[in-house]
Amino acid sequence: MDRGTYCLILRNRGCRLYVGALGTLSFPRGWYVYVGSAQGAAGFSRVTRHIRIAAEGTGSPRWHIDYLLCHPGFSLVAVVCAETMDRESECNLARLMEGIPVAGFGCSDCTCGSHLFYFASNPEKAIISTFSSLDLSASIKTINKSQGEHTGMTVLGISGSTRKDGNTSFLVKAVLERCERAGIETEFISLAGKKINPCLGCEKCKELDWCVIQNDDWGAIMERVMDAEVLVIGSPTYYYDVCGHIKNFIDRSYSLYHQRKLAGRKAVAVAVCANKGGARTIETLEGFLNSHEFSYLGWVRGKGYLEGDVVHDARALKKAQEVGDKIVKLLKPQD
Ligand SMILES: Cc1cc2nc3c(=O)[nH]c(=O)nc-3n(C[C@H](O)[C@H](O)[C@H](O)COP(=O)(O)O)c2cc1C
Repeated sequence: MDRGTYCLILRNRGCRLYVGALGTLSFPRGWYVYVGSAQGAAGFSRVTRHIRIAAEGTGSPRWHIDYLLCHPGFSLVAVVCAETMDRESECNLARLMEGIPVAGFGCSDCTCGSHLFYFASNPEKAIISTFSSLDLSASIKTINKSQGEHTGMTVLGISGSTRKDGNTSFLVKAVLERCERAGIETEFISLAGKKINPCLGCEKCKELDWCVIQNDDWGAIMERVMDAEVLVIGSPTYYYDVCGHIKNFIDRSYSLYHQRKLAGRKAVAVAVCANKGGARTIETLEGFLNSHEFSYLGWVRGKGYLEGDVVHDARALKKAQEVGDKIVKLLKPQD
């Protein structure tokens, strides 16, 4: 039997795009599941066509799904297939699918409300159980990098301290290290030596959706935040609060606040103090993360005065590991 039904699992960085007769739609950052039928004469070769379009693009998109597959903001992550001769299985699957339907997508030839569903996190398990509830035995095929996969599984750590290898860097890196061990891609950026000018308060970002200041390092670092799945943001405590360098960095993100361009990412806050004020530093970081609608995974607070002192704070190191493990669980639930 080479006929059946299938789901495509796609990831999206957050974009607006033209989808034929549906017009221009906004696709929030997250996961999308498309339910399709391989009941026609071509059977599962329809799935091969999807994979090819995701890798090579197409100059003439025909179906709604083609617009997503050939857009650089979307990447095809996996395909789930089940053999069946039941012609109703596609629509039955779509009706049972969890997730938020994208109205009118992929259903012009049936009475379903949609055949595309949004998920905030990896929908693999939900899909497999939906197939099972219809007595369909599903097999999953992950699309490898050469076929255009973008895993997006990056964790970005930022230390706002002007001490490059100071205590904040150490704790942020302790969280990243836990993720690296599990095979998750990480990146660390220290703001030490970086030029981050203060926000001008000009409000021009309301029209531009980006900061007007061009002659410093803020833009390149913020691009990395936008590419990351998880942000681990840390600051030393200066006068019971975050240091000025990271405050400048945060203030400039106002330019992304208007359209909630950072929403949906996950985040961890890290703070170090010598003695007092770490809790307020965490609160300020939380204010930044909550305003942008990050999903908050928790905080790590350490104590240390001189560079490297925090290595003796066993509680903070344990907390860093625990938060790191939480990230791993979210990004690699199968481990
Ligand atoms: C300008 C300044 C202000 C500080 N204010 C506080 C404070 O309010 N409370 C505190 O416990 N430590 C304070 N500290 C100490 C730092 O928080 C501490 O040295 C921390 O480990 C620095 O982290 P880093 O190595 O990542 O830069 C201050 C240090 C500086 C330089």
